[in-house]
Amino acid sequence: MFSRIARPTLCIANRSLTTSSQNNAKVAVLGASGGIGQPLSLLLKNSPLVGELSLFDIAHTPGVAADLSHIETRAHVTGYMGPDQLNAALKGCDVVVIPAGVPRKPGMTRDDLFNTNATIVATLADAVARNCPEAMICIIANPVNSTIPITSEVMKKYGVYNPNRVFGVTTLDIVRANAFVAELKATPKVEFPADQLSALTARIQDAGTEVVKAKAGAGSATLSMAYAGARFTFSVLDAMNGKEGVVECAYVRSEETECKYFSTPLLLGKHGIEKNLGLGKLSAFEENLVADAIGELKGSIKKGEDFVANMK
Ligand SMILES: NC(=O)c1ccc[n+]([C@@H]2O[C@H](COP(=O)([O-])OP(=O)(O)OC[C@H]3O[C@@H](n4cnc5c(N)ncnc54)[C@H](O)[C@@H]3O)[C@@H](O)[C@H]2O)c1
Repeated sequence: MFSRIARPTLCIANRSLTTSSQNNAKVAVLGASGGIGQPLSLLLKNSPLVGELSLFDIAHTPGVAADLSHIETRAHVTGYMGPDQLNAALKGCDVVVIPAGVPRKPGMTRDDLFNTNATIVATLADAVARNCPEAMICIIANPVNSTIPITSEVMKKYGVYNPNRVFGVTTLDIVRANAFVAELKATPKVEFPADQLSALTARIQDAGTEVVKAKAGAGSATLSMAYAGARFTFSVLDAMNGKEGVVECAYVRSEETECKYFSTPLLLGKHGIEKNLGLGKLSAFEENLVADAIGELKGSIKKGEDFVANMK
């Protein structure tokens, strides 16, 4: 996944995952039984922002739903399993979060996941387009650089594409940047000498691989991703509830660079993206990082678009 280049001086401050506002949003998690899906569903069940939590997976959802439904918080939990129950899981959803798909093993790139995850995401996006086309769609499944173009093209096929409502969740990169910067220096605004800046940037970019290696074949980041996915979902819900000034980075349809999709800070509102806040003023170091990423990113976007164009 390519996320916005980490800019320590602009990192969004760490924030609590709790909130005092309430609403009755119906949130679906597709891939709810997985390494990310389970802790993500737990965090969503713990939030007063969620009125109904709809859990879908191809396996184990009855157990996950039964377990979560015993927690005393207000969200009503329902579990759906298998393709026959996908439509029912999505009816009336305001937000759909998608962590379904296979994760990386050591030695794999995110792009190695393309063949399996492209089909999974296209199938799920198709069901969203038919059942809750107005929902905010938050895609976690990798490679995000391609799964967002895939989702967008599927929505276009049904004439229900709204680029302000389709998000590639890149919040984990921001969460990691905040954590790693805080390990080195605690007080904003921070500055780093060139050698430390380039080592820190490389660590943030490769942090997913750090976890894949440490888990030694047992998957990729799940708990930190669940935290990041919940943080992003709560921001979307807060903004839908009318809270002002909600800003999160996400990978979205974009005019900010020569790539059709890019991850930048976004001002969120009642209807999704209210304003793309753009890349801002970049240092020479950051400009080089963006330039380096453009070629590969364009290829990933085209690969996603071609996949949908060639779908039967
Ligand atoms: N965006 C990010 O920053 C980020 C970070 C980490 C991982 N990821 C990605 O998230 C995805 C999930 O990772 P994980 O560790 O939870 O994997 P996992 O294998 O533990 O869980 C995936 C879940 O998806 C389910 N699933 C498979 N096909 C499905 C379908 N057609 N419909 C519904 N559910 C289906 C599986 O049954 C499983 O429960 C991977 O693609 C991974 O690369 C993204």
